[in-house]
Amino acid sequence: MKSTQKFISENLAHRSENNSLRSLKAESNLIDFCSNDYLGFAKSGDLKIIFEQELKKYPKYSMGSGGSRLLAGNSLFAEELEQEIANFHQSEASLLFNSGYDANIGIFSALPQRGDTIITDEYIHASIIDGVRLNHATRYVFKHNDMESLEQKLKIAKGRIFIVVESIYSMDGDKAPLKEIASLAQKFDAALIVDEAHATGIFGEFGKGIVHKLGLCDQVFARIITFGKALGTHGAAVLGNNDLRSFLINFSRSFIYTTSASFLSHLAIKSAYLHLDEKDHQSALHERIRHFRQNIDSTIKLLDSQSAIQIILLPGNREAREAALKIQEAGFDVRAILSPSVAQGTERLRICLHNHNSMEDISNLCISLNQIIR
Ligand SMILES: Cc1ncc(COP(=O)(O)O)c(C=O)c1O
Repeated sequence: MKSTQKFISENLAHRSENNSLRSLKAESNLIDFCSNDYLGFAKSGDLKIIFEQELKKYPKYSMGSGGSRLLAGNSLFAEELEQEIANFHQSEASLLFNSGYDANIGIFSALPQRGDTIITDEYIHASIIDGVRLNHATRYVFKHNDMESLEQKLKIAKGRIFIVVESIYSMDGDKAPLKEIASLAQKFDAALIVDEAHATGIFGEFGKGIVHKLGLCDQVFARIITFGKALGTHGAAVLGNNDLRSFLINFSRSFIYTTSASFLSHLAIKSAYLHLDEKDHQSALHERIRHFRQNIDSTIKLLDSQSAIQIILLPGNREAREAALKIQEAGFDVRAILSPSVAQGTERLRICLHNHNSMEDISNLCISLNQIIR
């Protein structure tokens, strides 16, 4: 036990020395420029009303699901919700997972096998990397959004080939060139899988995502959508055809060996979709994104992004952390993203924009950023 305690203290001390020690923060009174609640659904009074009205239709609901979907935890409600989600995103089928992390672990641990090749963008999310680590396929990494680099990897790939990208990258906020990637996937007979965590609810008609917006639904083998970001709730789904759904039900361990989310979670997701489908929530957000970009000084290293995720590069853990603290002292909840979460030398401030940020809040944030970062 002593050696384990020593291991823990040494690792924590190392993090402290590198200015990279993570700690939990309870809710703050600062103006939210940090959460993934891009459309403001998580705290929306309108969404709560929809949820409460829907709930009245199910007076006999259970608090818990009672087990895995394959045992006592399934319900007609969950299956109908999956079909509604699939229809909304123009997919044949969908399968619910308890989180985006679980969905990525579930699909990438099950689908690629020994002798296959999985090719991922270098900036792919940690949940995909963890999923890929659980299979025996060969993994190649291509340079971020670089089609030549992707094609080089495709040329040496063996077995069944999978290309995995995010439609909006979570740490940079930029888009993948999905049309080009889809043509390469077709040329090399690769299955293209797109994580739409940060595009769902934000891009495309009523937030149907970028794959839908670009008319690529039939060329993308599977999509991962998550409900904990723009939809303001929790959970995720894999969109794909009926065979993929059955395959995941049979082989995806993060689907099989876990208790299903409760009826209340599923109802929250259904309510969020009803709210999403009700009106255009996207234009207001895109107006805020433009406003932010127009008001940041040109001397600041702002990455190119039209998404709700805006990145200011501030290399060095100390530099990024100190700048974040100053912005927080000015009243804005902006967080630094430090290495090892991003590569050393690319530490940054990650600013998330929301429909609940007023134009004035955004102007004031820009004034602070322009003063603090020089
Ligand atoms: C691109 C991407 N995929 C998946 C996930 C995981 O989703 P969840 O938070 O629902 O587990 C995240 C969350 O940070 C993400 O950014």
